[in-house]
Amino acid sequence: MVDTPAPYQPTEGTPIVDIRKLWTVFTTPGKRFVVHQDLDLTVMQGEVLSIVGGSGTGKTVLLRQILGLERPAKGEIHVLGQPAAELGQRGAASRIGMLFQHGALFSAFSVLENIAFPLRELRTLPAALVREAAMVKLQMVGLKPEDADKMPSDLSGGMIKRVALARALVMDPPLLLLDEPTSGLDPESSDGFVTLLRSLHRDLALTVIMVTHDLDTLFELSTRIAVLADKKVIVIGPPKDVIAFQHPFIHDFFLGERGQRAMELLREYPFAV
Ligand SMILES: Nc1ncnc2c1ncn2[C@@H]1O[C@H](COP(=O)(O)OP(=O)(O)O)[C@@H](O)[C@H]1O
Ligand SMILES: [Mg+2]
Repeated sequence: MVDTPAPYQPTEGTPIVDIRKLWTVFTTPGKRFVVHQDLDLTVMQGEVLSIVGGSGTGKTVLLRQILGLERPAKGEIHVLGQPAAELGQRGAASRIGMLFQHGALFSAFSVLENIAFPLRELRTLPAALVREAAMVKLQMVGLKPEDADKMPSDLSGGMIKRVALARALVMDPPLLLLDEPTSGLDPESSDGFVTLLRSLHRDLALTVIMVTHDLDTLFELSTRIAVLADKKVIVIGPPKDVIAFQHPFIHDFFLGERGQRAMELLREYPFAV
């Protein structure tokens, strides 16, 4: 008898990203290095799914695979019902916004030119319309019209993140990927950026997949948390359930020295419970 796997049944809602039995393998001379092994992950429409895991567990690679920038060794990744590999560069830009961890802006371009870049690349819209669309996004991320002509070297860390976010959203994608969105920001800028992300998620009805190790960011924004360890997603669920899961990484991450803070945050953000 042929052993066929049971058909996959989503638990609720519409899956925006569906990853099944993913393997990621890197080979260097004389060494084969498995990053993901049979990793499954389903992200539903409208949620803010946070991915946490130790350094080098393949969080960034996973985002790049969802974007179609990297191909897994084995397994399937569907994004908005389509194989990620088939999205293509243009398809990906209009359907997925990505804020890279070291999301460098083009230093020779002004703020507005940076935001407009993905639209310019299309070469289908008149310049005035491109400018107008970029101005809308500039203001949507809390920048002022007079910031439009500034150069990246004139901007604070928080403003650079906002410009990169405006660029990620310029084509109105339904899905936004964030790699360590608040890393490198001072606490005040970090709070401001989290508040912005929260309102954009709500106002634009975005689905967000975020990698972060910052507990404030995690608890302020996440509807669910996925923990990457032992080369796979070992647990996924609401923060309260994830914290209760028995695993050495989870114990260290949430309940070690930072545990007190995690418990305070759970009280502070009861929606997370
Ligand atoms: N293109 C690549 N070639 C070889 N190894 C890679 C490549 N990209 C990532 N890696 C390795 O894969 C592992 C996961 O990387 P990454 O996803 O960046 O981790 P993190 O979870 O810290 O974001 C790391 O050990 C990294 O060195
Ligand atoms: Mg990373």
